[in-house]
Amino acid sequence: MPVVVSMLNSYSGWAASATGFTLNNQLLIATGALVGSSGAILSYIMCRAMNRSFFSVILGGFGASSESGGAAAANGKSVKSSSVEDVAFMLENSSKIIIVPGYGMAVAQAQHAVKELLEILVTKNIDIKFAIHPVAGRMPGHMNVLLAEADIPYDIVFEMDEINGQFPQCDVAFVIGANDIVNPDAKTKKDSPLFGMPILDCTKAKQIFVSKRSMKPGYAGVDNSLFTYDNCSLVFGDAKETIEKITAELRGGGH
Ligand code: TAP
Repeated sequence: MPVVVSMLNSYSGWAASATGFTLNNQLLIATGALVGSSGAILSYIMCRAMNRSFFSVILGGFGASSESGGAAAANGKSVKSSSVEDVAFMLENSSKIIIVPGYGMAVAQAQHAVKELLEILVTKNIDIKFAIHPVAGRMPGHMNVLLAEADIPYDIVFEMDEINGQFPQCDVAFVIGANDIVNPDAKTKKDSPLFGMPILDCTKAKQIFVSKRSMKPGYAGVDNSLFTYDNCSLVFGDAKETIEKITAELRGGGH
């Protein structure tokens, strides 16, 4: 949808520019061309970040829809799940945590709960960073806006290229409502509609927790093999409620 909106915006610019030629109005030509070209460049950048052609974005869905929604397995392999108590225990015994927010954090409006979790972990001298994928959420900068709204400091928020090399030194990668942007099939599975899209390398963390409500897929409509990794465990439930419970557990633990 954001790509379509920015393309329509671009077309309106080119139309204004063409009208400028008919009316012999140079200001209209220049401003129309500016709007048209900036909209086209923005659409191109968004398509590249999703590793999709412009036409596939305009003409249809991301990929085949998955039939596995709701099942407690991905691609026939079982997945592990953890309680909020398990997650709280692991988090407070970590020295380095990377939080990966995705569209589900926006749906749950969990950003303020995430800030409270951050605050309590920082008091325990744990190094926390946020990893932002260029197409996390549903519009450019979606996650940055939500984190800024919750007053999460900019200096601990990193773009994908800056932070991807840090996952191997990370004790816990905590994925909050993200799915496609951490799907390892984008690297390995040639027939996946995600193939070729760069992802956040959270598989390299010692432990991965994923907060989501079910086994339903993300925007691309495909299973995520991350959930079947030995070092990955799902924490089922709404992200805001899950994070609030983890924070309460950390407070109640008195550590
Ligand atoms: P998605 O792949 O869409 O995954 C979001 C996940 O959040 C879902 O698996 C969903 O699982 C979970 N979720 C939803 N509501 C939740 C809640 N209340 N609590 C906890 N989890 C919740 O998101 P992503 O990883 O951020 O990737 C973005 C996708 O959107 C990419 O495929 C990208 O190409 C596409 N896209 C991006 C843009 C831009 S510009 N950012 C524009 C158009 C499309 P459950 O339902 O099981 O909870």
